[in-house]
Amino acid sequence: MIKWSDEFSVNIVSIDKQHRLLIDLINEVEHSISIKNNIDATDTIFNALTSYIDYHFSTEEYYFELFDYPHKNEHLKEHVCFILKIDDFKKNTINTSDKIKLNEIITLFEFLKKWLAEHIRHTDKKYEIFFIERGLG
Ligand SMILES: [Fe+2]
Ligand SMILES: [Fe+2]
Repeated sequence: MIKWSDEFSVNIVSIDKQHRLLIDLINEVEHSISIKNNIDATDTIFNALTSYIDYHFSTEEYYFELFDYPHKNEHLKEHVCFILKIDDFKKNTINTSDKIKLNEIITLFEFLKKWLAEHIRHTDKKYEIFFIERGLG
């Protein structure tokens, strides 16, 4: 389980709110995996998490464009690589059995969880001052 703490905060209310929701969804997936007996519920909540990640990335990218954020390109590259990895995984797991699918969801989920926590604490954190100076907060 990931517990929200100040190290995840970028001190921008709207973005912190989205990051908190991402962490809640991660914890729900983890809970669903721990129950083990419901692949459909795990799949549903995992899909909700990846859809919300898409939505969240577009929010950040909207601000990158709006304020012409100087680190826009490298940040965008991280988002794109991440989404490609998730999409590839989804393509490769179609038509596999539930058992294999659950194992693969767990593997992907562990990657996703680590990646997001790192991304928020390091890459997202870099835009904090720049955005706050431009009126977000
Ligand atoms: Fe973010
Ligand atoms: Fe980001």
